[in-house]
Amino acid sequence: MKDIEMLLSEVKSVFDKVKDINELNELKVLYMGKKGKITEINSHIKDVSNDMKKEFGMKVNEVKKLFNEKYESKKKEFEDYLLNKQLEEERIDISLPATRVSIGAPNILEKVIEEIEEVFLSMGYDVVDGPEIEEDKYNFEMLNIPKGHPARDAQDTFYIEGDEILLRSQTSPVQVRSMLKGEGKTPIRMICPGKTYRRDDDDASHSHQFMQIEGLLVEKDISLSDLKGTLDVIFKRLFGEDVEVRFRPSYYQFTEPSVEVDITCVNCHGKGCAVCKRTGWVTVAGAGIVHPNVLRMSGYDPSVWSGFAFGFGAERLAMMKYDIDDIRTFYNTDLRELRVFDREDEE
Ligand code: DAH
Repeated sequence: MKDIEMLLSEVKSVFDKVKDINELNELKVLYMGKKGKITEINSHIKDVSNDMKKEFGMKVNEVKKLFNEKYESKKKEFEDYLLNKQLEEERIDISLPATRVSIGAPNILEKVIEEIEEVFLSMGYDVVDGPEIEEDKYNFEMLNIPKGHPARDAQDTFYIEGDEILLRSQTSPVQVRSMLKGEGKTPIRMICPGKTYRRDDDDASHSHQFMQIEGLLVEKDISLSDLKGTLDVIFKRLFGEDVEVRFRPSYYQFTEPSVEVDITCVNCHGKGCAVCKRTGWVTVAGAGIVHPNVLRMSGYDPSVWSGFAFGFGAERLAMMKYDIDDIRTFYNTDLRELRVFDREDEE
């Protein structure tokens, strides 16, 4: 019994010196293991006289109970300490500046084109496509520009094979393709936004690859005022109600009469500035009434059908809308430059 009393007081204080979980585990082996002090004393119960057995047993249980309580509470103390240490080390500093996750944004040229498409779709037009690798026949001949015609020189063309296959120098061949599809029978309302190619040297206002938006309407009794009304709607939607549209006489082989389409300068509202070269007007499209030869070659009888056509320079429009002074901006892959326009849209 004396041994047990000693063991009890030992157990009371022995945990005070334990410094870490390893020492705690060693202690457990030392007292509760197979040859541990408590296990050992417990095995002596058989040597105790019967009248003492009960008291002895209770005392041993008291020591065991005390040991286990002390052990568990010490263990918890160490675990809490480790957990807190870990939490402290892994603490997230919410005051640190966040890394900017860059997300994509629509290309501004595409956005302007989509805006124009929306307006035309609302007026019953189809948005159609045509090949970028085109035949001379569609790019020139059926647009009333025969071989050897000087007008071909103005569109310095990339030929791919001989003088028949080329990279289209304009989207106008899609007019011909649409009319051939209509087989001289159905009215046509289409626009075709698409890439075009010319052997131009790249500079602030020229690019060897650029975007046009072609338009064609073929119905009955169509006049220049229908064209004017349509373009008025488009440019007012794109640049605001106070924008004015004017026609100047021009010349294209596939339209007669032909016009150059100007709008009041968006930058100075017609007062005159560097963008419009002090004229107050900026040219944004070529257009006209479809030439009878073109209708005829594509299977539409010019005594029955008439139409108008136009071709916008898409970059020119986007440059005006976003105040860009260099066409190369669109074809530049420097995201920092393009991001400037994302932010403008976020505002
Ligand atoms: N294709 C012409 C060009 O590239 C632009 C153009 C002018 C298109 C008049 C037309 C048009 O449809 O009627 O310069």
